Amino acid sequence: MRVKARDDSLTTERLALRRFTPDDGALLWELHGDPEVMRYCGGVLTPEGSREMLQGRILEYYEEHPGLGIWATIERATGAYLGLHLLNHIRGAEHIQVGYVLSRRAWGRGYATEMCVRLLRYGFAELGLPRIVAITDLPHVASQQVLLKAGLRRAGERRFAAYGTEPLAWFERDADGWLAEHAGGAIDGRGARAGEPDGRPRTSGPESR
Ligand SMILES: CC(C)(COP(=O)(O)OP(=O)(O)OC[C@H]1O[C@@H](n2cnc3c(N)ncnc32)[C@H](O)[C@@H]1OP(=O)(O)O)[C@@H](O)C(=O)NCCC(=O)NCCS
Repeated sequence: MRVKARDDSLTTERLALRRFTPDDGALLWELHGDPEVMRYCGGVLTPEGSREMLQGRILEYYEEHPGLGIWATIERATGAYLGLHLLNHIRGAEHIQVGYVLSRRAWGRGYATEMCVRLLRYGFAELGLPRIVAITDLPHVASQQVLLKAGLRRAGERRFAAYGTEPLAWFERDADGWLAEHAGGAIDGRGARAGEPDGRPRTSGPESR
């Protein structure tokens, strides 16, 4: 994979990503210990499980796969930690997936979609990934709506041993199709093309970094 990644500086109009650090255990636990947040993410983790995820799946993964990973999602206006977005391997597979887990206080404001679109552009245009996929639990319509708004397409169901025995909703998109469809600028969290409320594109969008 071609990597000219500045993955610690991805921003949108309202959000920024930064890498997690070894000191971020408490932030992750805000997500991993909340049953509502984890309802469609395999259920709450133990504190030990959360620490293991920080060490292995997050910190070590940064070194193993430069440019990819799981990042803390920050509200730019306040500096508040909102949760995480990710662009990484499906566990035990070669596919690169996009994903997000936000604290309850951040739901319903278009944040998941806004940074998901930025990560798709980053993955396709900056990393040169040919395809990005996503998986959700079958009943998780909110997450499926985010993926559709961001420009992925539903393509049936798949099973992955690392995520249990149940079939999962499968989404995917190739770079050419997504980039052609999103040539004119960013799609904001409400699924609208940013900067075009009057139909006129802006010259520099919020995805410019
Ligand atoms: C799923 C999640 C990421 C959504 O984040 P969000 O920032 O609220 O998402 P957005 O505001 O960008 O978009 C949510 C969309 O789902 C829709 N939605 C929300 N709940 C819904 C429901 N129960 N049924 C149908 N649609 C629903 C919203 O209306 C919105 O779509 P719209 O803009 O077309 O109206 C967030 O709830 C979350 O982090 N949940 C816990 C972790 C999780 O499940 N992560 C995904 C694992 S696959």
